[in-house]
Amino acid sequence: MIREKYPLFSEENSEAVVNARMGGDIDPRVRQVMSAIVRHLHAAVKEIEPTPDEWLAAIDFLTKTGQMCNEWRQEFILLSDILGVSMLVDSINHRRPSGATENTILGPFYVPEAPRYPRGSNICLDGKGEPLVLGGFVRDTEGNPVPGALIDVWQTNDDGFYDVQQKGTQPDWNLRGVFTSGEDGGFRFRSVKPRYYPIPDDGPVGKLLGKLGRHPNRAAHIHFIVTAEGYEPVITHIFPPDCEFLDQDAVFGVKKSLVADFVKRQEDGTGEDEGLLAPYWQVNWDFVLTRKKAA
Ligand code: BEZ
Ligand code: FE
Repeated sequence: MIREKYPLFSEENSEAVVNARMGGDIDPRVRQVMSAIVRHLHAAVKEIEPTPDEWLAAIDFLTKTGQMCNEWRQEFILLSDILGVSMLVDSINHRRPSGATENTILGPFYVPEAPRYPRGSNICLDGKGEPLVLGGFVRDTEGNPVPGALIDVWQTNDDGFYDVQQKGTQPDWNLRGVFTSGEDGGFRFRSVKPRYYPIPDDGPVGKLLGKLGRHPNRAAHIHFIVTAEGYEPVITHIFPPDCEFLDQDAVFGVKKSLVADFVKRQEDGTGEDEGLLAPYWQVNWDFVLTRKKAA
């Protein structure tokens, strides 16, 4: 006779049986998270009814995903990215009033401590690509200028690689830099028009994309982190409107409000843009920050 303090396993009640094993005085957040995960996991298994071989294939996929990870490669984050989970977590945690710049995921290629540059500097150090000048203002949600904001920018070169993916081929810090907004909130820098590129697809996540009939391309973009004293930091991208992958970004990073106007200038630059030879791209872009929430 079994003393049934806890219910015994059955196919019908599997999730309830597992969740009933949790102790009485555990962290409530752990209880909430684990009971939801067990509930949804069991529901998925009941819907899929995997064969033993299919279940082992799933375990093998997760094992290989873990084995692909090292100091600079995080295949589990990549998996979360291509399943839309990274963008979902990002959206849930960065709900902002309309008009404020929307957030996006950081991605694996951000490098802190990029060189600080004065207004107007060119971050393209390899001379490849179509020249671009990007300028605008950092403002608060009432339209007031935010002086002294740091605008940290990074992008791939015209071959579709970040400098850190091509050490020794690209100059160090190619297409990375930090600019500071002026008294009027204004900032300006030169770079090149971004192009689409594939996320790292030589591992299990790339294989999964293939099995799903999906390509690995990210829509062309420039990354930014904008920070200013007293304001919530913004991690975001902007996208050129003519990229063919806007509606099929491999990691679901594209938001309508982040698609910028890229204007092709057919005359040489003048004034601040002196030295930019036609044709070049001009982008006006403002960042709108929200006040930091009180602690
Ligand atoms: C990126 O935009 O740099 C990126 C984001 C997610 C996965 C891979 C790359
Ligand atoms: Fe990127």
